[in-house]
Amino acid sequence: MRKLALYVSHREIRVISLLAFVLLGVLSACSDAGLRTTLPAPIPLTDINPDPNIVEVQLVAAPASKEYLPGKAAAVWAYRDGAKPGSVGTVPGPLLQANQGNLIIVHFRNELPVATTIHWHGLRLPGNQDGTPISQTAIPAGGTYEYRFTAVDPGSFWYHPHIEGNEQVEKGLYAPFIVHGGATLNTAADRYLVLDDVKLGGDGKLDEKVDPLDVMLGRPGNVLLVNGMQGGRLEVGSWTQERWRFVNSSNGRYFNLRLPEHEFYIVGWDGGLLPVPYVQDSLLIAPGERYEVLINFEHPPSGRLALQNIYYDRGHNVPDPGPQDLLEVIYGPAGPPPSPLPTVLRKPSTVPFNSKTLVRPFVLKEQEDPAGGAANFSINGQRWPDITPVEAKSGAVEIWEIEANPEMDHPFHLHGMFFQVLSVNGVPPVVPWGWKDTVNVPRGSKLRFAVQLDPPGRWVFHCHILEHAERGMMGELVIR
Ligand code: C2O
Ligand code: CU
Repeated sequence: MRKLALYVSHREIRVISLLAFVLLGVLSACSDAGLRTTLPAPIPLTDINPDPNIVEVQLVAAPASKEYLPGKAAAVWAYRDGAKPGSVGTVPGPLLQANQGNLIIVHFRNELPVATTIHWHGLRLPGNQDGTPISQTAIPAGGTYEYRFTAVDPGSFWYHPHIEGNEQVEKGLYAPFIVHGGATLNTAADRYLVLDDVKLGGDGKLDEKVDPLDVMLGRPGNVLLVNGMQGGRLEVGSWTQERWRFVNSSNGRYFNLRLPEHEFYIVGWDGGLLPVPYVQDSLLIAPGERYEVLINFEHPPSGRLALQNIYYDRGHNVPDPGPQDLLEVIYGPAGPPPSPLPTVLRKPSTVPFNSKTLVRPFVLKEQEDPAGGAANFSINGQRWPDITPVEAKSGAVEIWEIEANPEMDHPFHLHGMFFQVLSVNGVPPVVPWGWKDTVNVPRGSKLRFAVQLDPPGRWVFHCHILEHAERGMMGELVIR
């Protein structure tokens, strides 16, 4: 008992010093408020194929340099457009975009000093294109690989490595992916905002020391980034409506967004548009999740307006640092007024489950190290890669019940298919029938979702706090 108490207080001290660090980062962001630069939009990859039904790109992963803090270069790993002469790697990487139904061909070259793979997070594709170490052989340093799949579903996705993801994603390998299609929303702008955080030293370089608290919380950074930039500025047209797509690409931070005096009309989740939108003042985005929102910029704001990250209690007594600015939003000249939304954004459809549907339990646990070292994580008592795969027949419908340990939340991600959340602790969600591939399981609760297991392949499911996944919180689903 005594030992445990000692450990807890040790952790609280660590949390407090982390908080000081976070505040420092925020302070430095405020001091250069006058120097804010326009938020960069992700740059699309060059499509080298003239066929309008094919998107063919050349993608390279390589060491690169990035100024997270002005004038201070950090060594990163980054994706770049191999079809553009002289292109340099960017964080986030270039945007891959396609229309629904397009064939996508990615010629990939690995110029990293280590092996890698690319996982197309959220896309439904053949099992051997999923980019995990169980769906393909890792691409060695200096190697090349070709990915080929069809863009089945319109929506907001992203891509990232699936080997040592905790290291490779943190170093800068992550990028947005949009499949256009479905209902047309005539908004004044359609933006993809990629949310991340980085842990920087005073020299502006990535701090690569990983301590037990980093493992527990997913390497919390001291600098918050939108599209790779700290404290960017975005001009919007007055009286317009914009569509903002968000992905949380951080290793483990929970983003809880708020735009004071404005509401988020949530129109889409991981698996594309919802049948009907719903409204919220704040929007929680767990690691790996995507949300699409419409925002009406129709009332001149009083004073400065900032997209903020506000407190969310994710467990483990992480203290509240107060609202943190992510992005300054400026009202510019009036733009086109919003056009009416289609009454139904998408035809509702449901997973065909019934009272006899198999309920499969998964228990997510953390195992703290009594000596104060890094914790271990497991699913049903097993730690990746020493696991027994879940087996199922293609087309089977199941209900998965995910139970999170009482200490902290875990964002649960299943590869290769979408699911529908049925309940959290027996309570149905406010908005039914949206499609998800990543969902936050609040600590101490049981979340149920319905899923049709398809297509055949070897798929992984895991916590998207990448440190948890790499330390055991990952399982395998074999569909035959
Ligand atoms: Cu975003 Cu298994 O990954
Ligand atoms: Cu986790």
